[in-house]
Amino acid sequence: MPQPAHPPTDPRDPLGLRADAPLLDGWLASTDAADRGALTLMCTPGHKQRHDLTGAVVAGDTPLYGGVDTIKHADTLLAEAESRAARLWGADWCRFSVAGSTHGNQALALAVGSPGQEVIVTRCLHRSLLLGLVLAGLRPVWVLPERDTGTGLPGAVAVQTVRSALAAHPQACAVFLGDPSYVGTTGDLAGHADAAHEAGVPLIVDAAWAAYLGFHPDLPPHAIAAGADGMVTSAHKTLPAATQSALVLARTQLLDRARLDRAFEATHTTSPAGAIIASIDAARALLARDGKQLCARLLHLVATARRRLTEVPGVAVLDGPGVDPAKLVVLLAGAGADGYAVEADLIAAGMPVELGDRDMIIPIVTIADTEDTVARFCDTLAASVERRRGPARRPEPSPAWSVVPQMAIPPREAFFSPNETVPADAAAGRISAELVAPYPPGIPVLAPGEVITGDALAALRTARAQGGRIAYAADPSLATFQVITQA
Ligand SMILES: Cc1ncc(COP(=O)(O)O)c(C=O)c1O
Repeated sequence: MPQPAHPPTDPRDPLGLRADAPLLDGWLASTDAADRGALTLMCTPGHKQRHDLTGAVVAGDTPLYGGVDTIKHADTLLAEAESRAARLWGADWCRFSVAGSTHGNQALALAVGSPGQEVIVTRCLHRSLLLGLVLAGLRPVWVLPERDTGTGLPGAVAVQTVRSALAAHPQACAVFLGDPSYVGTTGDLAGHADAAHEAGVPLIVDAAWAAYLGFHPDLPPHAIAAGADGMVTSAHKTLPAATQSALVLARTQLLDRARLDRAFEATHTTSPAGAIIASIDAARALLARDGKQLCARLLHLVATARRRLTEVPGVAVLDGPGVDPAKLVVLLAGAGADGYAVEADLIAAGMPVELGDRDMIIPIVTIADTEDTVARFCDTLAASVERRRGPARRPEPSPAWSVVPQMAIPPREAFFSPNETVPADAAAGRISAELVAPYPPGIPVLAPGEVITGDALAALRTARAQGGRIAYAADPSLATFQVITQA
């Protein structure tokens, strides 16, 4: 475990990070003053640091503005913390978000072009980016990732695919990719950066699931180091930071700093939670000081888990070149076990995982895990697979990975078009007004403006029948769909 540099001055900061983390320092000081009863708050929050009304649920809550620092001065502290993060990632612009990579994707979409302009985008995108296209009025030119024929899972988008799209759409204003993918596959970001830059446009990368990339020589470089111009990552997903926390990073040769700021502020709260924003600062300070050591341990934990799990007959893991070595993706089809049942066993054992579908379990292993937590997970998973074992079957991957969209009208136009609700049987061939995504992974199978194909309907029904959650549909039972009203 990392050791404190000096004896910590506050037991609430056990590794002594506050000396290099101005927002953390402010949060510690503010909550300490509140705990000592030294504050008579005449500003928000409405709970006024009392825990006898709504109770412990508001403990530790203090706003950035008027808590972590004064309303007039907190911006200075925030800018200092963000510039430390920019330096760490080799960027020259960084903002801390309390609204996840969802907000980061939407801010970057608002920063790159003008309504009506084309943008090259992976169709394996998270729904937040699709809604970013709606907000910004950008017209997607979809590029599809390669798919592994054995597993059906997505790989990266090939550089040549993006080059061809850029050549066919010379007016496109940016390239948006997701890397690593939800299943940890990684691509040639340096090649993509070259392709985008030769076309004179920025490369933006959604790296929501891999904030640790680049902090150990055995990990792929992060997107900014690989040459991307913008990158979003969720601190809360894989770093020891609070839920909702995210970083948006950019280099400002091809992106405009003032426009980035305007885009970021347009959809961010004016009242960021101090604990969330300070936790990004703390996680950044920890990565800067101990990132290499912590990531070495993470890599060791994941390698050990991969070895252990592949000893279970029929079980496989994603591995090898083109896969993030810190990602654990467990494939169950060869053991004939139903992933939904295995997930239920894991939940019953107090081990909720990030994704469980028929053929796959994806736990999130982070630098906060230990040999013990990972060993317990592997043992519990192995025991569940033994109980649920059946004949090996062909994997039937989630429809999210294999969408081949037929875009009839751009997402923004569809989002604001008059629409109606029709029974599922009448929906095939109509244009979707809504976004429908099995969640996780949150990749839309139907997006506003796309033709509802028979294949998409069948795939959504299968995902639901198997036990998947169908998110964002007005009717999650899939009995009806919202479609654009025909003229
Ligand atoms: C690829 C991808 N991007 C963005 C997001 C949104 O992240 P957040 O939950 O931090 O808003 C997710 C969420 O799962 C995601 O999978």
